[in-house]
Amino acid sequence: MTKTLNVAMIGGGFMGKAHALAYAAMPMFFWPAPLIPVRKVLVDINPAAAENGRQRFGFEEASSDWRAVVARPDIDLVDIVTPNDSHAEIAIAAAKAGKHIICEKPLARTAAESKTMLDAVNAAGVIHMVAFNYRRTPAVALAQKFITEGRIGKIQNFRGTYLQDWSADPDSPLSWRFNKKIAGSGAVGDIGTHVVDLARYLVGDITAVNAMTHTYVKTRPLQSGGVDKLGAADKNSSGPRGEVDVDDEMLTMLRFANGAVGSIEATRNAYGRNNFLTFEIHGDRGSIVFNYERRDELQVMFADDPADVRGFRTIYTGPAHPYGDGLWPIPGLGIGYSETKIVECYDLCKAIASGQQPSPNFADGYRIEQIAEAILHSGENGAWVEVKA
Ligand SMILES: NC(=O)c1ccc[n+]([C@@H]2O[C@H](COP(=O)([O-])OP(=O)(O)OC[C@H]3O[C@@H](n4cnc5c(N)ncnc54)[C@H](O)[C@@H]3O)[C@@H](O)[C@H]2O)c1
Repeated sequence: MTKTLNVAMIGGGFMGKAHALAYAAMPMFFWPAPLIPVRKVLVDINPAAAENGRQRFGFEEASSDWRAVVARPDIDLVDIVTPNDSHAEIAIAAAKAGKHIICEKPLARTAAESKTMLDAVNAAGVIHMVAFNYRRTPAVALAQKFITEGRIGKIQNFRGTYLQDWSADPDSPLSWRFNKKIAGSGAVGDIGTHVVDLARYLVGDITAVNAMTHTYVKTRPLQSGGVDKLGAADKNSSGPRGEVDVDDEMLTMLRFANGAVGSIEATRNAYGRNNFLTFEIHGDRGSIVFNYERRDELQVMFADDPADVRGFRTIYTGPAHPYGDGLWPIPGLGIGYSETKIVECYDLCKAIASGQQPSPNFADGYRIEQIAEAILHSGENGAWVEVKA
């Protein structure tokens, strides 16, 4: 009999939906499953959201008291899918109670806060993961495999973008994502950190940045109803407005520890771009290109191909590629956002079952926060900023 893993999930919003689906679906894809997640308790500060979430997401119980739930002896894993201001408090309490933890990204609002979380999980000896799920896209994992195998040689340049347009309209609502006290930062922490994770996964650690940051929309309409209205669904241009105190956009140059250079652009104000998470990587023997909006494809160019066939080719990922043994058996069926979370859940359960820390874990989450902070700092003073070791 496969062992079970009792999950308490804190937060029943957008990511609550994605994680709940992964707990249910993971053993359907990856069998034998390393562990079978049991959706035990759904906690939300909003009791109606907790009860709705319990029913929708298939949890046995609902609660609005995460402190009581985290202390329960029958809980094995605490899953933190709340806004960024509560990650540290919940994670530290969960670590002290001896629970394994998965925490949504960014790990916390600042590097200092992230460090307290890393110290707590290290002291407790529990398994920890930070939910940068895009590296679980099979095409991204395939890019990493090609790079590790040396197929494009020594990496020289990484160009990453994360462009969205859900906040391009100045009348789209004041989500918590525009509030520094809750979010920590804007595009830098929310989407820029995803690209930083990919850059570190594919190329290596980042040692210095030189950035620009900009806020285009200084006020936005206040939200009603207590539920976050990410995007423009609840436009209210004539009502009261609140201040935006985070960045809308960032551009940064990068220096990597291994000598490569690169750049990242991140914005949520790029009309026409939905989830334009891309990278182009040049090595001294080839190149790799990925665009999440065509997530089943990886473009590769190998410089040592015969001259008459040299050029980019498109690989459509499927059973022959990373995670292909668990995902769909025919290449053309494709994957969606959910599958990246299902693979993330699989890797987390493997880590818990084996006692080996997964990647990215809280040490990576802390390092990414140090890089994000250096980007924000450089954005203010316009100079190169070394990312401290
Ligand atoms: N990996 C990704 O691709 C991805 C995508 C979106 C969001 N996120 C991250 O996931 C986290 C949650 O974002 P979301 O989009 O699900 O937010 P959301 O606003 O949709 O949902 C958050 C939920 O948490 C509840 N909540 C708030 N404070 C709480 C507290 N102290 N205790 C218990 N419940 C609380 C809210 O009532 C709400 O239901 C954030 O850290 C965000 O950056 C990651």
